[in-house]
This record gives sequence, C-alpha cells and structure tokens, in this order.
Amino acid sequence: AINVDPTAKGAKIDDTMYGVFFEDINRAADGGLYAELVQNRSFEYSTADNRTYTPLTSWAVDGSAQVVNDAGRLNERNRNYLSLGAASAVTNAGYNTGVRVEEGKTYDFSVWARAVAGTTLTITLKDADGTLAEARQVDVKGGWAKYKAHFTATRTSSNGRVAVASSDAVALDEVSLFPRDTYKGRKNGLRKDLAEKIAALKPGFVRFPGGCLVNTGSMQDYSEASNWERKRSYQWKDTIGPVEQRATNANFWGYNQSYGLGYYEYFQFSEDIGAMPLPVVPALVTGCGQNRATDDEALLQRHIQDTLDLIEFANGPVTSEWGKKRARMGHPKPFGLTHLGVGNEENLPNEFFARFQKFRAAIEAKYPDITVISNSGPDDAGTTFDTAWKLNREANVDMVDEHYYNSPQWFLQNNDRYDSYDRNGPKVFLGEYASQGNAFKNALSEAAFMTGLERNADIVKLASYAPLLANEDYVQWSPDMIWFNNHASWNSANYEMQKLFMNNVGDRVVPSTATGTPAVTGPISGAVGLSTWATTAAYDDVKVTSADGTTLLSDDFSGDASKWTHTGRGSWSVQDGQYVQTDVAAENTMVSAGDTSWHDYDLKVKATKKSGK
Ligand code: AHR
Repeated sequence: AINVDPTAKGAKIDDTMYGVFFEDINRAADGGLYAELVQNRSFEYSTADNRTYTPLTSWAVDGSAQVVNDAGRLNERNRNYLSLGAASAVTNAGYNTGVRVEEGKTYDFSVWARAVAGTTLTITLKDADGTLAEARQVDVKGGWAKYKAHFTATRTSSNGRVAVASSDAVALDEVSLFPRDTYKGRKNGLRKDLAEKIAALKPGFVRFPGGCLVNTGSMQDYSEASNWERKRSYQWKDTIGPVEQRATNANFWGYNQSYGLGYYEYFQFSEDIGAMPLPVVPALVTGCGQNRATDDEALLQRHIQDTLDLIEFANGPVTSEWGKKRARMGHPKPFGLTHLGVGNEENLPNEFFARFQKFRAAIEAKYPDITVISNSGPDDAGTTFDTAWKLNREANVDMVDEHYYNSPQWFLQNNDRYDSYDRNGPKVFLGEYASQGNAFKNALSEAAFMTGLERNADIVKLASYAPLLANEDYVQWSPDMIWFNNHASWNSANYEMQKLFMNNVGDRVVPSTATGTPAVTGPISGAVGLSTWATTAAYDDVKVTSADGTTLLSDDFSGDASKWTHTGRGSWSVQDGQYVQTDVAAENTMVSAGDTSWHDYDLKVKATKKSGK
C-alpha cells in the first residue's frame, strides 16, 4: 500500500528542476543540431583534429584544386581557403550518406569567393541518380565577397552532393548550404526535427557546451599564432560574430568543430524553448584524464575577464562593449543569464578549487546575483569527490555539479542518495547522469532514481540526463538520449521517461510511504520489472512463478547467493519453451542450468524488499 498524507508538505520543486545537457559529442553540433549541410565548409579540418583528416576531408576534386594557408586568406581566424583552377570543380559529401534534401523545400547556398579577373561559378545539387535541383550560376569578380544562391529540391535524397564548378581560377571559402526551414526559421539555425524533439521535453534549462570539451586542451586563445593548429579549450569568444570569422577547433572527442553553433545560438535556442541558459566555462584545470592546472596567473586572469565579459554579453545593456555585440547579432534584449558553471570534472580538487575561488570572487563582486556553480569531479564517491565536496562545503559554495554513469542496479539502490545530504550545505546540480543503456530497464531505473531527486528537491535543484544527442555514424559515447542520422531522428526509452518527468514537474512533493510486497508481471523478454533488479543487495526473497502458480525459481539468498548476482548487462528471452538469459555479461549467473520444466511464457516475478531499504 502507498500511504499519502495530503496535508504534509514536502520539498518545493522548481520549474527549472529538469533540463538538458548539450555537449558537442557524437557530432551533436556539426552534422547534428546545427543545420549546416556542408562538412568542412571552410577547409580547416586538420590532422590536429583527427589523424585521418586533411583540409580536403569530405571534398572531392575534379580538375585542379589545393588548400592554401597564406596572407590571401579570408581573415585571421579562417586560415585556409581553396584555390580552384580554371574549368575545375569541388564536390562536398555532407554527413552520413550525404547531403539530405527534401522535395519542394528551399535551400540557401552561400560562398565567399575571390576572383580578380572574374569567373562564373556553377552550383549543383545532385546524387548518383542525377540533379536534385535546377543548377545556379553566380558571377564572381574582385576581392573576397559573399555570393548567394537558393535551390528548390525537385527530389528527396539523403545521398546528395553539393558541387561548385568554376570557369576560371577562383579562391573559395566558407561554402555553405542550409535548409531554409530551420527551427523557428532562424538564420544560421538548427535542424528542425532535433530542435523540436528537445523542445518537446520542455526543459527547464539548457547546459552547454559540455562536458569534457569545455575544459581540455590548450588553455591559450586563438589569437596566439602557436595555437592555430592546436586543441584549445572551448572559449566562448571564438564562437560569436559572423560565422566566417569564427575559429574552428579540434574537438576533444576527435573531430573538428566549426563553432557555427556558438554561444549566441545556444542562448537563442534556450530562449526559443523557454529554458534557462546555463553555460559552463573552463576553469584552467583540465579534467577528463588530462590532469593539468595552469600556474600562469595572467592567463587565469584573462579567462576570468572572459567570464565577466560573457555575463555582459548575455545580460549587459546595448551600450556596453559585449552587450553591443549581442545586439549586433540580432538580440538587443538581454538573455537573462542567472547561473554559470566554472569547470567540469577536474581530477585535481585542490588545484581546481583554488582557481574556482578566483573566478567566483570576481563574478560575485561584479554580478552578485549570478549563481556560480562548482563541481565535485568525475565520480559519485571516493577521495576526489569527498575532497571537492569538503572544499565546496567549507567555502559555502552555492551549488555543486555532480556527474555519474552507473548500472541500473546502482540507480535503484541509491534512490536515497540525497536523503542524508546536509540541508545547510551547497545545493546540487546533477549535471550528468545515466544508467548504462538505452533499454526500458535503464529508463525505469532512472525514473525510480528521479523520485529520489524530487523527494530531495530542496537540495537537488537541477538535473540533466547526459549526453543528449548522438549521430549514429559518429558515436564516441553511448547511451544517449536522442539518436539521429542525416535524415531521421528517434527517441530512446530514456527520452520518453525524461519527457514524462519534464512535462509534469510538480509544485511540491507530497510525502508518502509504501508497505507490502511489490509484484510485477510481464512477458519475459528484455527487462521484466523486478527480474532485472532483484539483487542480493536490495532483496531478501525472490520468486519467479509461471501463470499457473508453479514456482520456477526462488531464493532467500541464504544459500547460493551467487545464483542471483545480477549486476551487469543481459537480456532474458524464451528459447525452445525455456526461460533463459542471453547476451549475458561474465558476471551474470541469474538462471541455473537444468530447469528444463519451464514452459509458460507468462511469468510473475515477486520479491520481498529488505527491511530498511
Ligand atoms: O557526457 C559525456 C562525458 O561524460 C562528458 O563530456 C563528461 O563531462 C563526462 O565524463
């Protein structure tokens, strides 16, 4: 029985409780949410990003063409350009199987070109079966200038190519093709199906731009020549302004990131979906396996100033230096930034905290209303975690970011994780979590855990499943919430579960208690309610019976407990009329051999909860 006292008052739940964690991982930005269809549009791919890359990755050349890096470049941040010979052409292969176009829809093409003697460019959309739209021609003459054309697709194809042919010699850069139909019709906008899926969650906040990519790599900025070819930590100033003037960078996850989806677009998207923007800036102590902390005070101070400038970019008046840049990009109204994270998963808690405190002091002195979020390192427990929490607690930090990726069993057994957190200490931002899989049982275990987050909503203020997006052909991390390729996207079970919670955020917890024996029935394939999580840690007795009441398995764990140890992956199914577990990870020994009498597929699983759990 579940006992509810409607007069009792539990924790208040904020509207911003559940949000999304966006990281440019798994090609979540270029080739994903960012709607650009041309890959490597400014010829900046390099072996520094990925050893298989060249500046012509994703391009095919017909005739003569070479990538040049010299003083004739488009601008200082866009180092390379393409020198295309007379009567030559280049063709871009887009992402996944190619460029996706849909019959009847409009596509906007643009290119920066320089041809002092003049030339005619012929732009074609095509696939192996022929043209996908009527070809366009543009005449180019003079120094660098932007040229545009638009197409209406005559056929749908996911295997398209964008070809640019030139009658005479020409320099090209920033070759771009966008669907006009972006989310909310924004220029330089977002892919509609993916943005709509995120919007449908009704997230309370959007955390961006990561993740490990925030905090790793060189801490220098782009303007230093020695860093043009190196991995740089993600610095927001690289990502704003006209796209052809934005830097590209080696992404922590092993590819090139264009920054076409940059800070302005993150703020705009957050606003478009009614979510609180929550940026995370580098703390100059690298995490994610790269344990380094800067001792360069001048560099640290520059990053602190960059963070103050970021707040001005988001919230400052149009008369301020950075507020003016926001207004010029199209948004005179402030974005209303209230929360900001400093650092991500540092393994060096003392080094991190010393630097975090400098960021915090500078931000609080100038912007006392901003909540500055610290973190507890990469683990859910242990020495780093304990040290980080101790430092955060002693310094009375507002909020601490926790991350963990654990088994479904862990999530079920740790529902009470926050019951014992200090009510007077820092609040918790559960910035990244997921049980290890996209199966129903994973979603179920996360849902169970989230009831514990809500019960503790006085302490746990923000929570986001991670990661959000994965292009199925470029996966660095799995599971993920939303999957896609160049023409389709689909939700995981975890997405549907998050949506359920996010679309139904309560105002206040009504305390409840439960008594009795949980019982779950269901077909025995995949996850069967208790069957996947009836572990020795949480249960005294487990019984599996067929529909006619015959006992198929039972154990009180007093004897051979190992028989029921079930800590990893594995799916259950019926084979030859028998109940077996397949795809079993080494540590699973759920079903003993020799139970050959099982014949009924309709099983009932019963477990008695251990007292006190
Ligand atoms: O979400 C994927 C990665 O997991 C993030 O980049 C990092 O913060 C964590 O380790």
